[in-house]
Amino acid sequence: MDQKTSREIQRRRTFAIISHPDAGKTTLTEKLLLYGGAIQSAGSVKGKQGDKHAVSDWMELEKQRGISVTSSVLQFEYEGYCINILDTPGHQDFSEDTYRTLMAADSAVMVIDAAKGIEPQTRKLFRVCAMRGIPIFTFINKMDHESRDPFELIDELETEFGIATYPMNWPISCGATFKGIYDRESRSVLTYTNYHGGAKRLESIVCPIDDAQTLDKLVTPRLAAELKEQIELVEGAGADFDLDAVHHGKLSPVFFGSALHNFGVEQFLESFLRLTTAPLSRRNAEGGSVDPLDDHFSAFVFKIQANMNKAHRDRISFLRICSGRFERGKEYFHLQSGKTMRLAQPQQMMAQERDIIDEAYAGDIIGVFDPGTFSIGDTICEPGQAVRFAGIPTFAPEHFAVIEQIDSMKRKQFAKGMTEIAQEGAIQIFFYPNSGMEQVVVGVVGVLQFDVLQFRMKSEYGVEYIRRDMPHELIRRVQNPDFDAANFNFTGDTRWVKDVRGRDLLIFNGAWTIRWAQEKNPDLILTEFHQDIEQG
Ligand code: G4P
Repeated sequence: MDQKTSREIQRRRTFAIISHPDAGKTTLTEKLLLYGGAIQSAGSVKGKQGDKHAVSDWMELEKQRGISVTSSVLQFEYEGYCINILDTPGHQDFSEDTYRTLMAADSAVMVIDAAKGIEPQTRKLFRVCAMRGIPIFTFINKMDHESRDPFELIDELETEFGIATYPMNWPISCGATFKGIYDRESRSVLTYTNYHGGAKRLESIVCPIDDAQTLDKLVTPRLAAELKEQIELVEGAGADFDLDAVHHGKLSPVFFGSALHNFGVEQFLESFLRLTTAPLSRRNAEGGSVDPLDDHFSAFVFKIQANMNKAHRDRISFLRICSGRFERGKEYFHLQSGKTMRLAQPQQMMAQERDIIDEAYAGDIIGVFDPGTFSIGDTICEPGQAVRFAGIPTFAPEHFAVIEQIDSMKRKQFAKGMTEIAQEGAIQIFFYPNSGMEQVVVGVVGVLQFDVLQFRMKSEYGVEYIRRDMPHELIRRVQNPDFDAANFNFTGDTRWVKDVRGRDLLIFNGAWTIRWAQEKNPDLILTEFHQDIEQG
């Protein structure tokens, strides 16, 4: 590999930001972009007229609901690093999308509201991170507000998540009396200034902890004494810093700050960039790994987004580059279809704009126009290189509904819409044996996905339909060859369906009906739904 390529790869830092809605993910992202000079003023990420939508909010529905449904990717430069931030949806109904995004990241930054601590969605997302074993950095936000006791917050992280933590800094009070943070590495206090937005750097006073006189003046003698006591406790009781444990997701460096007031953000960014990893190798289907510094280009599809721009109906596949260098115009090989192709209009997101790019490197995320052949988990590589990445697991749907088209004149659009939205991984579709495409069983992980489906079918495909919710909750794969439900004994509410590949599945009302089926049919072979999407 040439030196330039290897240097480019090694300066990449690709991470996802996760949080419970409202903890401050958008605000923090915006401040990071400000430091990188990617945007000029605070508020740009949120859009015009102070409306609360990040640039990533592509879809109308997101605007209506005020939630971020899909994830976006932003790239910026900072002090020699090339940073890729992957935004993730905050709403729990889209955790599957978050999971896929995390597959494309090398680390995660978890934003926590200091007044609230761990919230349900943080818990769920953390589990998703833990499944991947990726490094997690914690930013405890909103210290300018009344917050919970920092020891309590740290303790909660450790006991709830079962990982060690290492506070990189320590807050001096909070809310109206918030004075700043003590940085453990430099053993200095950084005073808080109530500072809002702008591209200008924050000006804080830095005071060594041993300069008692100045410190007393800066933070009051009472808070200075309290801080020293707390530091002693932190140093005495806490875990030692262990970079290896950080890289294995076993120790989370914790930072306190205020994203809104741009306090502690720059220190966070600098420490984070030092401590996180350059692009990591990726697991291949054979159990080996693909080294980012491998000469040959390889990437996998982790997300498909249709109709991002209504003016030109497009479908974009997001690829995480796993090794080598991508060149625009060069021919690449799509393993699953066996076809060689040029990837049209490769692009990266820069704040509000999509830029066409000529080259990209391992660690980068690029969006390419999708001819309709890509599926989540697919591999793109150089012709003659049969790289095959380990699949991205699909979550078992927990809610089901029968969806029927109303207007037989729109049969084609109905089939197209359902198939394309399913290909994107936004829903899963199943069919009753011997029934056609006019009736589809849709499975989702979170019920909000039904709303997204209805909205998109109407706005993008012009199709309305009838939806009948099913009371079923569990789905299992059937492994018996030539399965026919008529030859088995099931409760009346058990449903036999097939997936798009014709594989058999059973949908059950609850755990007891599964037990019933197994007791009555000793020959029946059921397996969990959750499995890697097969490749090829
Ligand atoms: P999210 O993306 O995680 O959902 O959160 P977002 O950044 O949108 O922040 C949610 C709310 O919390 C916003 O207020 C934001 O201004 C506020 N916030 C974020 N960071 C801080 C912080 O460090 N301190 C304080 N005090 N507030 C913070 P909002 O009123 O809902 O929206 P807006 O009108 O400010 O845009």
